[in-house]
Amino acid sequence: MEKSRILSGIKPTGRLHIGNYFAMMRPAIQWQEKGEALYFIADYHALTTLRDPAKLREYSGLVARDFLACGLDPSKAVLFRQSDVPSVTELAWLLSTVTPMGLLERCHAYKDYLARGIPPSHGLFAYPVLMAADILIYDSDIVPVGRDQKQHIEVTRDIAVKMNETFGEIFKLPEPSILPDVAAIPGLDGQKMSKSYDNTVELFLEEKALKKKIMGIVTDSTPVESPKDPAHSSILALYRLFASAPEVSQMENEFASGGVGYGDFKKRLFAAIWEYLAPMRARRAGMDPGHVEEVLQAGARRANQLAAQTMARVRRAVGL
Ligand code: TRP
Repeated sequence: MEKSRILSGIKPTGRLHIGNYFAMMRPAIQWQEKGEALYFIADYHALTTLRDPAKLREYSGLVARDFLACGLDPSKAVLFRQSDVPSVTELAWLLSTVTPMGLLERCHAYKDYLARGIPPSHGLFAYPVLMAADILIYDSDIVPVGRDQKQHIEVTRDIAVKMNETFGEIFKLPEPSILPDVAAIPGLDGQKMSKSYDNTVELFLEEKALKKKIMGIVTDSTPVESPKDPAHSSILALYRLFASAPEVSQMENEFASGGVGYGDFKKRLFAAIWEYLAPMRARRAGMDPGHVEEVLQAGARRANQLAAQTMARVRRAVGL
């Protein structure tokens, strides 16, 4: 059997945070052992909300570097910039000609923007079509994404079916892969960790800045001596991601028994995060920017090779 092809993208709209790591990067890095994995920096998509060229360039570079620091192995997985494969926008156009408006009007992400009173651009509306092009152009089998992106994968499948019905069998239908256990990583305020809530903990902060963030986690006002509620604690939820099993049970016991304050728990959480990230921090510090660029360029060559095959097939099928 042919190796399955795994594909995912990450938008370079900020510095990567712990939520990105557990929800996207870590699973992506694990997938590199199981098939041909392709990951890209979704800079075209980022432009729907980020209009600062210097920032876009900076974040794109950081995402690439951080991905490599976290263990993405360029001898196993392909890492590239979305915009280094411009034919993906041609495919997005072709897909848009068969995409019903209603399909896009139903997308949660789009409706959220409307609900927040943000005047949507056409790019934001058409966002899922470009995403479908990203996925279909590489004949992807599996798309590891966060739960918030599941609907976009369903839209991709609907668009692929429409194309196949209209022009003959062009595309295979991709499957989403959603990791249930880390789907909701709490941020500093207890809501899901997300840039839009301004409650993130970035992966590669300086020691002091990281400590400050962790000490700022919002807690209730249970006194030191009283038992604490483990079910709604961001501290414990984050600690479970970074600490060993015995360390976690110890903290759980101390939540239940009382006698330890939130400040102590936070210090322990900080220490666990700092230690967990140490090898990645070291790899990141030693990384030459030239190396990152070489990886991206080699990735772009491979991605373009695959895209060209698909585009030849699609152009022929539609009559171009
Ligand atoms: N929309 C995704 C996000 O915000 C990023 C993305 C763009 C993507 N294109 C993709 C993810 C294709 C998977 C496949 O997280």
